[in-house]
Amino acid sequence: MGLPRSSPFSSMAVLVFVLGLVLNAAVLCNGGITSTFVRKVEKTVDMPLDSDVFRVPPGYNAPQQVHITQGDHEGKAVIVSWVTVDEPGSSKVLYWSEHGKQKKQAKGKVLTYKFYNYTSGYIHHTRITNLKFNTKYYYVVGIGHTERKFWFTTPPEVGPDVPYTFGLIGDLGQSFDSNRTLTHYELNPQKGKTVLFVGDLSYADNYPNHDNVRWDTWGRFVERSVAYQPWIWTAGNHEIDFAPEIGETKPFKPYTSRYHVPYKASGSTAPFWYSIKRASAYIIVLASYSAYGKYTPQYKWLEEELPKVNRSETPWLIVLMHSPWYNSYNYHYMEGESMRVMYEPWFVKYKVDVVFAGHVHAYERSERVSNIAYNVVNGICTPVKDQSAPVYITIGDGGNLEGLATNMSYPQPGYSAYREASFGHAILDIKNRTHAYYSWHRNQDGYAVEADSLWFFNRYWHQIDDSTK
Ligand SMILES: [Fe+2]
Repeated sequence: MGLPRSSPFSSMAVLVFVLGLVLNAAVLCNGGITSTFVRKVEKTVDMPLDSDVFRVPPGYNAPQQVHITQGDHEGKAVIVSWVTVDEPGSSKVLYWSEHGKQKKQAKGKVLTYKFYNYTSGYIHHTRITNLKFNTKYYYVVGIGHTERKFWFTTPPEVGPDVPYTFGLIGDLGQSFDSNRTLTHYELNPQKGKTVLFVGDLSYADNYPNHDNVRWDTWGRFVERSVAYQPWIWTAGNHEIDFAPEIGETKPFKPYTSRYHVPYKASGSTAPFWYSIKRASAYIIVLASYSAYGKYTPQYKWLEEELPKVNRSETPWLIVLMHSPWYNSYNYHYMEGESMRVMYEPWFVKYKVDVVFAGHVHAYERSERVSNIAYNVVNGICTPVKDQSAPVYITIGDGGNLEGLATNMSYPQPGYSAYREASFGHAILDIKNRTHAYYSWHRNQDGYAVEADSLWFFNRYWHQIDDSTK
């Protein structure tokens, strides 16, 4: 005989059952923090063509869109690139060290490309080699009345305890918010010395016929930073520029014409995946939009690359890619999944410290998790805490015209430690072989404010639990 519905025992049973459900949900869905920061809702729009940040430098054939990146594997070379619009001019770079008397010259190459009804300016790429570590250099591009002078500082010699500060920017574009992000990066009292850029540069492809004029404006916009410190490039989907409807069938044409990287120095066969050493960091750049399956060039390269990383020389193993593997927003959800399935076991085996990705226009940081046990039939398909796994950080919050990704999945998954739909940038400040301080800075705050921060403990030298929840 059953108990009457109104009995106190039955009420208690229901209460216990409900409590059990709640507790169970709390265990299963032990997500981190979804920030409650309230933003002013504003439309993200591109800066108009006559904006001051897009100003063309004065003078006949003046070099514009000047940018530098690392030019070799260990930081003793720099690739200097710029555009001249009236005539090819000279691809020579004149350079000298701050305390050196002798001026040297490096000669480069010039190229142009066409994209539908657009013809590029003359794009110069010149590699300066045999530089001294930890030295300030001045350099001059252009000739005659239109010479332009800039400077950069080479990194310290590669070594395990060399401090170094990286900036992190992704999905920048050229909106008013993009300008705020770049300004916040520049004015952050924690001075980044090199930007790790996680893909999606100009967003020119959002314009009719991928209006490549917007590649030029972007180059002029970011010159104020990238002419003075290297940005390490990752290719995103907005670099593909595949437009068969207007006869443009060669992917990555504007990007590869404008942005050269030192891929051959790391044995890569294409500019979309490569590695560099810089101070105490080993940085591997991967390509979300190039083939990565088994037997592909990228797969074979990465398989041979990871065992080469000597953590006694470069303790910090950092990977950059565009499409994130761990992403709890409803934008681009699981787009990185097939690459995760291919490469995640290697990342755990080789103890990657941190993976930075973009693509999702928001910020998110994971706990150290892996999801490599699943073998289709065993049902073990939930990410688990794993102290040999990297922290995954989505930093696609540069501020491009597509706006913020505000729609998140609920409940917040257990792997997600902190997430917030705001524009911003991050700083990774490596102190020595064991410790690095990381901070994320939203654009609405003062320049020194850290909206999210943590200490990273190196996975090779100091593998203690650095969970944040
Ligand atoms: Fe993207």
